[in-house]
Amino acid sequence: MILEGFSGCRVDLTASGTVRKTAPGPAYNDRLRAQCLCQKQFFGVIECPAVLSEGMDGDRYFFEMAFVPGMTPLDAADAHGTGVLVRLADRLAAMLVKFADDADGVIAPDLFRAKIAEVGGRIGAAFEGGDRAVIETAVSRLAAADWNLIPKTSAHGDLTLENILARPDGGFTFIDFLDGPFRSAALDLAKLRQDTRAFWCLRPRPNRPPGVPVDRIVLLGQLDRLLDERLSGRLAMAADRQKQLLAFQLLRIVPYCVDRAVARFLAFNMARQFS
Ligand SMILES: Nc1ncnc2c1ncn2[C@@H]1O[C@H](COP(=O)(O)OP(=O)(O)O)[C@@H](O)[C@H]1O
Ligand SMILES: [Mg+2]
Repeated sequence: MILEGFSGCRVDLTASGTVRKTAPGPAYNDRLRAQCLCQKQFFGVIECPAVLSEGMDGDRYFFEMAFVPGMTPLDAADAHGTGVLVRLADRLAAMLVKFADDADGVIAPDLFRAKIAEVGGRIGAAFEGGDRAVIETAVSRLAAADWNLIPKTSAHGDLTLENILARPDGGFTFIDFLDGPFRSAALDLAKLRQDTRAFWCLRPRPNRPPGVPVDRIVLLGQLDRLLDERLSGRLAMAADRQKQLLAFQLLRIVPYCVDRAVARFLAFNMARQFS
């Protein structure tokens, strides 16, 4: 059975009941190896599946981990009520505050500028006309923004709702860690807002009915408010700074958007961040 993701990695449920994640090609090997290392380091610190083995499948790196039964937090809230979101907000706020306390200087501003320039050069054909203009505007605004004083902290690195499993016992398990230079509790929070404010987890997908489910937008709004309440000033930043970090996270998705409908969805929700 193949599980669904966005990275291009192959994620299989194996016959022995484990999950095997395999790089899509040799160029991705180091990144997946770093993810595995990150997961091993977090094991016992935050809830994540145990890494069971690592190896090579031909020229592609893979690692195997425990299968954790669960569903996305939105599916769980749909099935069991919004208490799921209250518990999730509690857990996320506690985790982010802990990450923020584990700080080590700041992220070099040049890293942000280099990433923004890189994305500016990789706006694919899926972004047509007005959508392309939205992305180009975001690129030039973010290139001119102030990137000083973003704390470098412990972080998940890719804290989206799709990378959180709501378990049947009511707890949460975190997967799909991202190693890399943009590790900050502030960027983790921005990544969560990529879903709660820019609705990335509701993007169009081949096997879903078209249109945006309104009930899910309501749930995301609820989670967004709960998270703000639970954080109550921790990780405090000026509102425009928070928007800047969210826009940066949205911009990082641009090179991976090859589908016209997904590109349009992203551009629409990016434009809302600047209005
Ligand atoms: N250990 C696991 N237990 C249960 N489901 C998993 C596990 N690892 C991954 N999944 C499922 O597979 C999906 C894709 O895995 P993920 O590591 O997030 O890949 P991608 O990097 O493509 O996003 C997840 O969203 C989740 O639904
Ligand atoms: Mg994922």
